[in-house]
Amino acid sequence: MSSKLTRALLKEFEKYTSEVHFKKITSPSGRVLKLDGNENLFLNYKYINRIIRDSLNEIETNIYTDTLCQDLREAIGKHFHLPADYILVGNGADGVIDTIVKTFLEPGRKAVVVEPTYSIYKFFIKIMGAVYIPTLLEDDFSIISEKITATCDNETKLIFICSPNNPTGNQFPYDEVINIIKNSDSIIIVDEAYAEFGNYSLIPALRKYSNLIILKTMSKAYGLASLRAGYCLANPEIIEELLKISPPYPVNIIAQKIIPKIFTHVKLILNTVNMIQKQRSKMIKQLNNINGVKAYPSDANFILFRIKDKKLTGDIIHEKLLKKGVILRNRGSLPKLENCLRVTVCPPEESEIFIDALKECMS
Ligand SMILES: Cc1ncc(COP(=O)(O)O)c(C=O)c1O
Repeated sequence: MSSKLTRALLKEFEKYTSEVHFKKITSPSGRVLKLDGNENLFLNYKYINRIIRDSLNEIETNIYTDTLCQDLREAIGKHFHLPADYILVGNGADGVIDTIVKTFLEPGRKAVVVEPTYSIYKFFIKIMGAVYIPTLLEDDFSIISEKITATCDNETKLIFICSPNNPTGNQFPYDEVINIIKNSDSIIIVDEAYAEFGNYSLIPALRKYSNLIILKTMSKAYGLASLRAGYCLANPEIIEELLKISPPYPVNIIAQKIIPKIFTHVKLILNTVNMIQKQRSKMIKQLNNINGVKAYPSDANFILFRIKDKKLTGDIIHEKLLKKGVILRNRGSLPKLENCLRVTVCPPEESEIFIDALKECMS
């Protein structure tokens, strides 16, 4: 009955879920490795929990916080040497993407997305009834800026570029991304969820480009995935428009209180980023040493690899690993990613278990 009352376009939709519910996975050894979420597995969550516990006394949970999270916007701005009016916060970067899409899209308008990439862009664009225009990466996962700008027309309002790109792992060259920003009348969203693990950030260039939105999250390098906080940085004129659509109280009070404190521990975060970068090189080497596996270079905290075996497929290996309690993200259904799996860079002890399990599955 109620499905007759919902919006017509919901017929094409399925609920957005992660592939597996990790609490339901078991393994013969009793140990389950969750390596599908690109979280920071080098940060001791107990350390973060201590910061949260120390903040609890300052929190009045019965009182609404300020609707715009102004203190948090100021703290983030201060961190990047920008005024607060350059910042919009949200319930994770996903919440910010939702707000951006609602602000610029409606039926008939277009959004260009460089694919294969993070699937939530498509989800939110389609919910708006807007036209989704995928433009494919080259076979080596690079981009050609002219090809992307050539797909745009007057109805193109947004271009999404994820860099470093999830799930391919590569960060696109600075000049290629800047070319797109310079040669387009659309708003360019550069998703830098993983930029801390890469080679550069566009934030220093932000003031130069009035059509640029840089998306950031506290879920990856900063280790706060389940606290749900993200933000974007953009010209104040864009932020003012986004604020018209942004839901009130977008970030919970605990996240609001602890994010400024986490920024004072940035050395610790960068230390874990450094460990992840070193471990990433080791894991890529180990993966490439397995017969029938090709791992791609990565500028992020995860690695994409392809199963290149005549008898085995990515789906088979994914299933076999699940039975051993190792959870990876199966990306094989995305364009150009046949038989590809994605693994989070993890500390040496977990990595050894994962590599041994993969070797067994491949033999
Ligand atoms: C590229 C990219 N952007 C944004 C997000 C969402 O981040 P958040 O947890 O802040 O919603 C993710 C999460 O995996 C991601 O991979």
